[in-house]
Order: sequence, then structure tokens, then C-alpha cells
Amino acid sequence: MKTFIFSLLIASTLAQPSSRWKDDKKEKCGYGSCPVMKDGMINVHIVPHTHDDVGWLKTVDQYYYGSRTMIQKAGVQYILDSVTEALKKNKDRRFIYVETAFFWKWWTKQPDHIKHQFKQFVKSGQLEFIGGAWSMNDEATTHYQSIIDQFAWGLRKLNETFGECGRPKIGWQIDPFGHSREMASIFAQLGFDGLLLGRIDYQDKNNRFSTKTPEVVWKASDNLGNAANIFTGVMYNTYSPPPGFCFDILCADEPIIDDKQSPDYNVDRKVDAFLDYAQSVRKRYITDNIIITMGDDFNYQDANMWFANLDKLIQYANERQQNGSKFNLVYSTPSCYIRAVFNDATSKGLKWKTKSDDYFPYASDPHTYWTGYFTSKPTIKRFERLGNNYLQVCKQLSSLADLGPEDPGDLNQLREAMGVMQHHDAITGTEKQHVVTSSALDKLVKKSSMGYQNISFSSCLLNNISSCSITESSKSFIVTVYNPLSRPVTQFVRFPVLGEAFTVRDPEGKLVETELIPIADQVISLPGRKSEATVDLIFRAVDLPPLGFKSYYVKRVPGNEILKPVSKNNHENEGVKLEIDRETGMLASVTMNNITVPLSQEFLYYEGFVGDNMVFANRSSGAYIFRPYKNEAIKVTNRAKCTVYRGDLVTEVHQVFNEWTSQIIRLYREETFVEFEWLVGPLPSNGPRGIEVISRFVTNINSDSTFYTDSNGREMLKRVRNFRPTWKVHIEEPASANYYPVTSKILIRDSEAEVAVLTDRAQGGSSLKDGEFELMVHRNSINDDAFGVGENLNETAFGEGLVVRGSHYLIIGKTSIQGCDGNSVAAAERDLAQRKLLQSWSFLSFTQNLTFDEYKNNFIMTMSGLQRNLPKNVQILTLEPWIGNSLLLRLEHVLEKNEDPHLSQPASVKLQGLFSPFQINSIKETTLGGNQLLSDNIRLPFETVDDNLVRSQRYAVIEVEDDEMTINLDPMQIRTFIIDVSFS
Ligand SMILES: *[C@@H]1O[C@H](CO)[C@@H](O)[C@H](O)[C@H]1NC(C)=O
Ligand SMILES: *[C@@H]1O[C@H](CO)[C@@H](O)[C@H](O)[C@H]1NC(C)=O
Ligand SMILES: [Zn+2]
Repeated sequence: MKTFIFSLLIASTLAQPSSRWKDDKKEKCGYGSCPVMKDGMINVHIVPHTHDDVGWLKTVDQYYYGSRTMIQKAGVQYILDSVTEALKKNKDRRFIYVETAFFWKWWTKQPDHIKHQFKQFVKSGQLEFIGGAWSMNDEATTHYQSIIDQFAWGLRKLNETFGECGRPKIGWQIDPFGHSREMASIFAQLGFDGLLLGRIDYQDKNNRFSTKTPEVVWKASDNLGNAANIFTGVMYNTYSPPPGFCFDILCADEPIIDDKQSPDYNVDRKVDAFLDYAQSVRKRYITDNIIITMGDDFNYQDANMWFANLDKLIQYANERQQNGSKFNLVYSTPSCYIRAVFNDATSKGLKWKTKSDDYFPYASDPHTYWTGYFTSKPTIKRFERLGNNYLQVCKQLSSLADLGPEDPGDLNQLREAMGVMQHHDAITGTEKQHVVTSSALDKLVKKSSMGYQNISFSSCLLNNISSCSITESSKSFIVTVYNPLSRPVTQFVRFPVLGEAFTVRDPEGKLVETELIPIADQVISLPGRKSEATVDLIFRAVDLPPLGFKSYYVKRVPGNEILKPVSKNNHENEGVKLEIDRETGMLASVTMNNITVPLSQEFLYYEGFVGDNMVFANRSSGAYIFRPYKNEAIKVTNRAKCTVYRGDLVTEVHQVFNEWTSQIIRLYREETFVEFEWLVGPLPSNGPRGIEVISRFVTNINSDSTFYTDSNGREMLKRVRNFRPTWKVHIEEPASANYYPVTSKILIRDSEAEVAVLTDRAQGGSSLKDGEFELMVHRNSINDDAFGVGENLNETAFGEGLVVRGSHYLIIGKTSIQGCDGNSVAAAERDLAQRKLLQSWSFLSFTQNLTFDEYKNNFIMTMSGLQRNLPKNVQILTLEPWIGNSLLLRLEHVLEKNEDPHLSQPASVKLQGLFSPFQINSIKETTLGGNQLLSDNIRLPFETVDDNLVRSQRYAVIEVEDDEMTINLDPMQIRTFIIDVSFS
């Protein structure tokens, strides 16, 4: 008999009786360990902390060990060593630690007595984990799937090591350059009680400080209701100490000298200065609590310097209370601060203002918009997305193949590498781990363990430069195409080859239609490309099973079937028609989903501003900052050299604009979108000014200053040109101030039509005129923007400027009218976004010298991980090996509530009998991070002026008595489960 563990929570855990929120003093860590606040005083929460970038100017290891000190004096190992010593000396001292990547590196190297000591600090609340993800992720360029993954991984390590006392409750995004709404929603769904931020737009900050609203309840989702509300505070001085109070070895401020005999005695002066500062902070916030951060980048390598001075500061400042001072200084933590704010507001009946837009773009002065980094390092941004695609395939295959109780180290390495890539300064690359997928696939394809040696499966990572050694060198090979989506998909498979004809057989032995298209000249001459291949072999892998694969047997045969160019101006497949201007070779209109939109697409560039950065007006464009010299972009050209290949599977328009800009526009059979595969670079030198290249789409849509961009690949946000929803903005940089992060989608619409472009990586984008929108695809800059990287952004590869190749996917449809398959254009965009994020992954292997029939007799050529398809609006967001024999399973509803008349309805999934290789024995619902049972998560119910409470999640219900384990999902909802399984 299977046992079910049901976590049952009443559908609304709305307002709890306030007694519920009294501090539980029996609880040692957590809120119960917080310092006692003094009523009637301003409680000053002194928060010692260090901000440790997980790989910025140096690598993670260089930071950990403190090597390469010429670049930056920073050794994280000394920080944790030294803090451990310093906390012993005074039980009141507290410290927070944030980045689990560094913590874990340190922890695994500690002897038992240090571990024991450290655990005591965590138990007593002296040491508290805040944030807790593998790294402090960037919020503009990251995808929600990767953010959730890297939180889950960090939080799992903390739970395994420290249990409940190691569970972070507060988000700590103190350095990212602007803040997304989706990130706030994720924090709420992680079960956190609050979120603290460092950087917001300088005008926004001034406005919030003058209206006492740096602290609000952020309503972070249009779909999830109060479950996505989270208390959010903007700190007074980002995360730095008050001026003059940095007591680190990296700082030069004078220590507190309390020897009255000393000529340098400075206690009175220091305490005066500190209390003045506290008073100016106090004026900006509405409760009797303020938070003052005491730390900075890589501080506390000599923790005693900090703590010895803070001990004195607290002692002498509090002595002033005898003379009537109203300030009470305590060592504290972000969670104790937020708890105290909650208590104070609740006892006084204060209600919080709300916010429902985001904190983008971030400007630090009138000429400094941090909108360049949305696009900077475009190849790494694509590599990150591809890494996520591969990580998900890897996690699924490891789960389906039952590789053993604990997941293999290689999967962990990939998890951790992806965690590092999410960091807000990440510039590091990552190694791909092929071991896991290869052994998982090997296990899944073998009919018996007899006979064949392990088959090695590999991927063609250089496919992006049309180079692949197996497909180029072998006369025959197997392509195994794995589909990580929860429904069948059809994928176009494309490989560079040498031969002139091929046969491809599907698992039934049927010949599959193939096509050979010449590789574009500009690709063949890419710097660093060593391949001999001159054509791409294309075939359609039709109806790939959900969480499953099909293997194709590919063989080179005599013949000559390479497509020849045609001359024609209209190009169409069943659903899509392109019109190319015969004169100019540029796109003129697109017809799709029964609507024709005059549409041109062109490449332009901005020239970067050059200045000495000494005053605001002289800010240079750089790695972080986009600041064009002129706000009008310059056209790369007015005409393109065009070559057209018309196939039955694919039609390609090859456009060459100049030596460093070209593009292939593609139509695929039975696909209702247009692909624009652009190739940009090496960017030429342009005197002192850099070049920042955009692709601009110009239509007749009456967009009325409005466009829409996604938030971390999930909910869409409305953007209005030269406007901010919460204050009256004054703009001096009309181009860069209107740039927003595009993680996966940008669109414009009017009452007739919607025109959307999906991206294959994060980019900056905007609509600077009605009917138009643009995406920045590549940028270099000869100058530094003076924000710490200390070098210009002029990436090179193979001794030349970087060449970037990427894709935009265009979808057009009637606004809010159903398309041909009964779905809205928004649903079509969601569908394509899923298929591009989690593409079917092609693995290559050798045929072992077997004929098709021999191969088929010995190996499994098609497999489905699911017994039935999930509904079109539900996707398995995560399936991965978890603790012991359990798996972590996340289900998500992929549409928003108003996107589609049918698909935006609630959905339900029966889990029992869903997975082919295993049965579910028990299931527990957890918070989004997988580190706490959902039924145990009760959040602080901050009250808002709109009569809304911050609410715990509503859905901790699996229908009891439901043997089928039915899971219901509302639009945009994600539910996380730990499942115990047994393999058949
Ligand atoms: C286009 O419209 C025609 C007639 O209104 C209809 O028959 C057809 O199904 C539509 N096709 C698509 C792709 O929506
Ligand atoms: C937290 O870790 C403990 C072991 O330390 C484990 O028993 C428990 O299941 C974990 N909790 C979750 C939700 O994973
Ligand atoms: Zn940082």
C-alpha cells in the first residue's frame, strides 16, 4: 500500500490572530533570538556584513583563496575564519552571511571543532544566513528557471547543514543594478518575510525618501495575488557604512579611540557624528527602527578590527541615553530588523503603501543609466541560457534513468556553475559536464545490459559556428533528440556536414525528408572556425515524446541535393508570408495568423559617448552604462545583398548588410513564426567611440508610447516611454532612460495587431517611437564607465573583435482574437518561448557499425518519460534528483490570467501513473525553494493601505482521498514537491 503524506492547509491563511506573531523566546535561532528592542526609542540595527561577489574581477577560487591580490585584495576564506573567532569574544556580536557558493567552499574544508563552533553560532542566531542562494543573482538578465534553481541549491545546502536554523527568511539584493518584479515574487514564493535592496534610481530614491516610502509592500504578481506580496525596503546608503565608519583593513577611517589620556581621543566626536547620521536616516522611515549596514565588498578579513570598534560605538552611543538620547544601538540582522519593523507597525496600526511596477531601469545620476549591461557580453548571455537548457535535460535524464541514490558529482558541478553564472557581475565561463547525460542515456537506450559497451553520447557545442566533428567526419551516425517539454514537440534538427546527400531514418525505419542548405559565406569565414563543412543537413524530428527521445539513423549516400538560390520576392510557407523589397533587399511586410503588417527590420548603431567620468555630464558609455553620443541611431545600410534558398522544410533569405552585419531570415514548414538569425561583428573601430548595434523593427502599429517587456521570462510588464508609474520622471538621456531588460520577449500592440519578438538571450530593448521597437544585440566600448571593471568592454576572440550570432523570433497576430488553432497570439508566444528555452537536445553517437535493423534490434530508439501529455498550459519546470532517493518536482502554469480565453484557465494534473519509469510513493509540497514544507511556512502578515495582507501561499492542498494525486494550478502558479519514488 502506498502512503501519502498530505499537507493540508486551509485555503486561506489570511489574517492570523496577532498573538501568533509574538516572539517565541523558546525558539533559539530565528526571530526568537533577536535582540530586545527598547520601546519609546529609535532602535538602530547595526548589521555587520560582507558583500562577496561570486566571481567578478577574479574567479571564485581566486576570491576564495585571496590570490591575485594585484587585482583586488579579497580572500573569502579569511573572512569566515576571522568572523568565527570574533563572534566567540562577545555573545552580542552578530554577523550575516549571504553567498552559499563561498560558504560551502569554506565549510567543506573546516575541521570538526570549527564546524561545531559555527553550528553553535547559527543555533544562537549570532550567525545568520540571509539570501542563501548560490550567488546574489542579477535581476535584469536572469531567467526565472535559473534563479529558482540556484536558490534551491544554496538553500538545500544550508538546510542539510544547519536544519531550520539555517533557513534564510530575508532577501538581500543589495548590489544588483535595478530590481525585477519577478524576483520579488520569487522571494515571496520562497516563503521569505521581506526583501532589502541597495540600489534604485536616484530620482525614485529621492522621491521615496522625501515621502517616507522607501519601505513598501511590493505586489509582485498580477496573477498570484497576496501570495506574491512581500515587504520590501530600500536601504539608506546602499550597503555601505556611514561615512567615516568603515573599520575594515580595506578602509582608512580612524578607529574609535577611547583612551581619555590620548591626544587623539575621539569618542564624543564619533558618537555625535554617528547619531547625526542616525537622525538623518530616521527621518526617511516610518517606524522606530532603522537599519545601518556595517560592511562592504570583501570586508571582515580581519573581523576583529570591525567588531572591536563596533563594540565601542554601541557602548558609548548607548551611554548617551542617560543624557536623553533616544537612540538605542543593537547588533542585529536583516531579519531581526524586519521583524522589529513588523512588530512596531502592527502595534501602532501602521499600514504599508504598495508598489506593483518594478525598479528598472536603474539610474545613478542624470546621465548614468545602467542599461548597457542588459546586452554586454552577449555570447556569455547566450551560453548561460544554453547551459540552463542543458542542465534541465541533465536533471531530467538523471531522474528518469535512476542513476543511483545520490546524484553524481557531475550534475552538482553543473548546478554550481550555473549558480555562479547568475551572479550580478558574472563574467566567468563554465565547463559542460557530459558525463551525466551520457551515462543516463546509455542506460535508457540499452535493451539489455548484454552485448554492447557503454555508448558515448556527445553534443555539438560548436553548432553555433556550424562546426561539428561527428557529423562532419562520420559516414553514418545516430542522432538522439531528447525533448525536455511536458508535451510532444516537433523540432528542426540541423547539422553541418560535408556530404552531398543523406538518408535519415526515424525509429520506425521510415525515411525522413531531409534538406541540404549551403552555410552562409559569413559563417564559413567566422574567426576561429576550423570546420570543412559547407552545408547544413536539416530534418524534422516530428512528435518527440514528452520527457522522451527519438533516435534517428543518419547515413551519407551518393547524390547531390544541395539547394540552389532562387530569385523571387515573396516567400511563404503554409502560415507565413514574407515580402522582400526587390530594390533594397530589405524586409517589407509579414503576413501571419491571417494578418498582414507592413514591417521593416534593419540594423543600426549608436556611437558610445566618451567622457572622463569626472562629472555626471562626462559619463562614458561602458560595460554597465549605455550612453549614446547621439540619441538617433545610425543605419548600418539601406540595402542588403540578398540570396534566397527555397526548400520544402526551410526557406532562407540570406542578407548581407556590410562586412560586419548579416542575417538569415528563416521560415520553417508548419511553424508560425519568422526567425531572424543575425551575425554581428567583429565591430570595426570607430575612433574613440564605441559601437552599440541594434536590430530595429518598424511597423504601422499604433502603439501609443507603450510597449511590453517580460520580467525574468515570466510575467509581462507595461512600459510607457518617458514615464515611470510611481514618480514624475525627468529624463536627460532619452534613449538609454527608455531601455528595459528583455529576458525573453518584447512586444507592441494596438487594437488590431500585436507584434512580438522573442530573444534567445537577455538583451536591452525599447520602443523609442510609436510603431517601432529595438533590441541591442552587440556593443563594444573603448572606454570604461568607471564602475569597477576597470577595463573597457572590447571583447575579443581569436585575436579579433567578438562575432555574435543569435536569433530573434517574430510572431504577429490579431490582438485578443483567437488564431487558427483557437489560441491567442499570447498563447502562441508562450508556446514558442517554451520551445526555445527548453529546446530538444540532440545527442550524437556512433552506429557501432550496425545497420539500421541491427541497431533497432539492440537499442531502444524511442522513449517517453510521461505516460500522458500534460495540458498545453502546464509544464514540468523541474525534475531532478534530490535528497536520498527522492526527486524534486515543480509544475508550472505557463500562462497569465488574461492571455488566452482557454489556456488562461486553471489547469489540473494527475500525478499518479504520470511518469513511465517510476511510481510516486509519497509526495510533500514545499515552498518554491524545496527547503521547507509548505504547511510549515507562515509569513509575517504585513498590512497594506489597500486592505491587503501579505499572505502565505494558498495552495498547500492536495486533494485528500485523491489516489490520483490531482494538482491544481492557477495561471502563473508554480508548485514544488518532494516525491519519493520507486522504479519499476
Ligand atoms: C484565415 O481566415 C480564413 C477566412 O476568414 C479562415 O478560413 C482561415 O482558417 C484563417 N486562417 C488562419 C491561419 O487563421
Ligand atoms: C532539511 O534537512 C533535514 C536534514 O538535515 C532533512 O531531514 C529535511 O527533510 C530537510 N528538509 C527539506 C524540506 O528538505
Ligand atoms: Zn557585488
